[in-house]
Amino acid sequence: MNVRVPGDKSLSQRALILASLADGRSRLQGLLYGGDTASTADALRALGVSIPPIPEQGGVIEVDGVGLRGLRSPHGSLDLGNSGTGTRLLMGVLAGSPVSATLTGDASLRRRPMRRVTEPLAAMGASFAFTDAEGMLPLTVIGADPLRSIDWPSPVASAQVKSAILLAGLTGGAFSLITEPRQSRDHTERLFRQVGVAVLEHPAERGWRVEMRDPPGRIDPLDFSVPGDISSAAFVLALCALGGTRAPVTVSDVGLNPTRTAFLDVLARMGASLDIEVDPGLGQEPTGSVSCAQEALCGTDVSGEEIPRLIDELPLVAVLGARAAGTTRIRGAAELRAKESDRIDALVRNLRTLGVEVEEFDDGLEVVGSDRPLEGRIKTFGDHRIAMAFGVLGALPGNRVVVDEPGAAAVSFPGFWELLKTLSGEP
Ligand code: S3P
Repeated sequence: MNVRVPGDKSLSQRALILASLADGRSRLQGLLYGGDTASTADALRALGVSIPPIPEQGGVIEVDGVGLRGLRSPHGSLDLGNSGTGTRLLMGVLAGSPVSATLTGDASLRRRPMRRVTEPLAAMGASFAFTDAEGMLPLTVIGADPLRSIDWPSPVASAQVKSAILLAGLTGGAFSLITEPRQSRDHTERLFRQVGVAVLEHPAERGWRVEMRDPPGRIDPLDFSVPGDISSAAFVLALCALGGTRAPVTVSDVGLNPTRTAFLDVLARMGASLDIEVDPGLGQEPTGSVSCAQEALCGTDVSGEEIPRLIDELPLVAVLGARAAGTTRIRGAAELRAKESDRIDALVRNLRTLGVEVEEFDDGLEVVGSDRPLEGRIKTFGDHRIAMAFGVLGALPGNRVVVDEPGAAAVSFPGFWELLKTLSGEP
């Protein structure tokens, strides 16, 4: 069975932002038609960019950029819904723009830490005011013009933090140097190069260094086709590896950026049979297809350098662990507590509800696999990836898993539940 998954969420949001800031008309194809991109597009519209509706079936849109200095202050507050990426990247854009704007979001986003972004941006000269709780949304950004240069040692490997600083440096015309403890996804760096911004990257004593030393006064428009989201493909591949599909599956036209593909390494280590083909081509983002067939899976350990490269797939690894022989351990992943939900807590509670043996750590969890039928009602905590990970478990023969809020999947994977039914052959 050949499957395509919706456009990459990280790339779709970056493409929309850079197209908005470009000098000229960008052409964007295959953007994610989902809640998170809708929120970011709406915010950019409120900042004065004319963005056509995002097509449902991956069509093309053209965006006339307003230039690096062209955003205007919005009338009301910007509601970023569930999107942490949209929020943090826009905070960077706004920090270097001559505007002020209030950002807010849904209950899940309002609980997420924003200081990791406001601290470096404030050090660059932008001002922030928190309306309710310190360090959380809603907050007001007042851009500084020009911004000060920065050399920021980020305590977390976070592409959102790194991208916010790079985008602030871009709109505010400031050198931006960042060291992160491990390399996080590098989509912003690759897209920057595509629009004419020089960014250097290299290993450094304290991790991974990214340098933008020469912010240009303008950027080129983008001509970009967004590949399928490897983080969405992961659910399909996991279902297949666990024997939940009617036949072997190939996911095609999916992003295979090496800073995102550690899930494939882990799935193969657990025993899945995978065949990965990288499409030839000179695109900035590697793409290709991944084929999968069912095999008996065994538990594995995931930690260290792999963590940032599969951070969004860790709920799925835990769920796979529940069906794999032996124990699956995830450590060094405290960042999971700062996602759309506290994912360690959400996984531990839900796996226990289903009768799975699981141990919780500050920075991870340990899951003991079994093949007994799993039954129960799952709480999603407003988190799309918790909903979908347990959706995969529920689609396996013999399990009866009810997900309390299936609609949560729509922020990154509209059509997920329908696809699950088609693949598993459920009537
Ligand atoms: C993202 C970065 C990651 C990831 C999120 C998307 C991005 O978050 O979990 O889903 O597009 O930059 P962190 O930057 O918090 O690690």
